[in-house]
Amino acid sequence: MIRGPFHHNKYLCTKKHRMKGKPPKESYTIMNELVLPNDTNPLNNLMGGRLLHWMDIAAAISAQKHCNRVVVTASVDNVSFKHPIKLGDVITIEAKVSRAFTTSVEVRLNVYAENIPSGTRIKSNEAYYTFVALDKDGHTIPVPELLPETPEEIALFDGALRRRQLRLILAGKMKPDDATELKALFFGDEK
Ligand SMILES: CC(C)(COP(=O)(O)OP(=O)(O)OC[C@H]1O[C@@H](n2cnc3c(N)ncnc32)[C@H](O)[C@@H]1OP(=O)(O)O)[C@@H](O)C(=O)NCCC(=O)NCCS
Repeated sequence: MIRGPFHHNKYLCTKKHRMKGKPPKESYTIMNELVLPNDTNPLNNLMGGRLLHWMDIAAAISAQKHCNRVVVTASVDNVSFKHPIKLGDVITIEAKVSRAFTTSVEVRLNVYAENIPSGTRIKSNEAYYTFVALDKDGHTIPVPELLPETPEEIALFDGALRRRQLRLILAGKMKPDDATELKALFFGDEK
């Protein structure tokens, strides 16, 4: 059972495991895909599962850049499909680590769909994926700290603690009573 806000410096404080922090730009990843017939449903719209697969790959590359390790997907937060994406559209997926915890990282994704002939481009999705770094024996291993730089990166970094608490509660890995920052969002700082 995972407790507390997070035990971030459990490993980083020991000399053996001390790692240099990294800014989000080092994990920035951009991926393009062209929506082909085999990616679509009978309405000629991109299938949601195919998009989630591409997002998983972009996010995993981003997480690997930050961790310099093999990573596995631990969870995918709620993803909404607001607009249908059509056959022939070009998908752009941008991924960047938004926070590192002890052995896991949260990756933020922005997804755009562009129709080049008509010159239209929409933001179709946003999502957060969480990855856990593993060593060569498949055991979890500490990851470098994330050092946000821009105001947007700092805002994503700050919100990541609450998102982490929510996903761990939903996964049955954290007691709601231990989610201090998440509770404060709803109830203020009252005890
Ligand atoms: C992800 C995995 C390594 C976690 O292993 P575990 O024994 O549950 O590990 P722990 O409980 O010690 O947690 C390790 C880290 O994973 C994180 N984690 C575990 N479950 C999580 C979840 N559902 N969502 C987000 N993070 C999660 C923990 O918060 C912890 O992060 P931290 O060290 O930064 O605090 C393990 O469940 C696994 O291998 N899952 C399969 C991964 C996979 O195959 N993915 C592809 C799916 S097809």
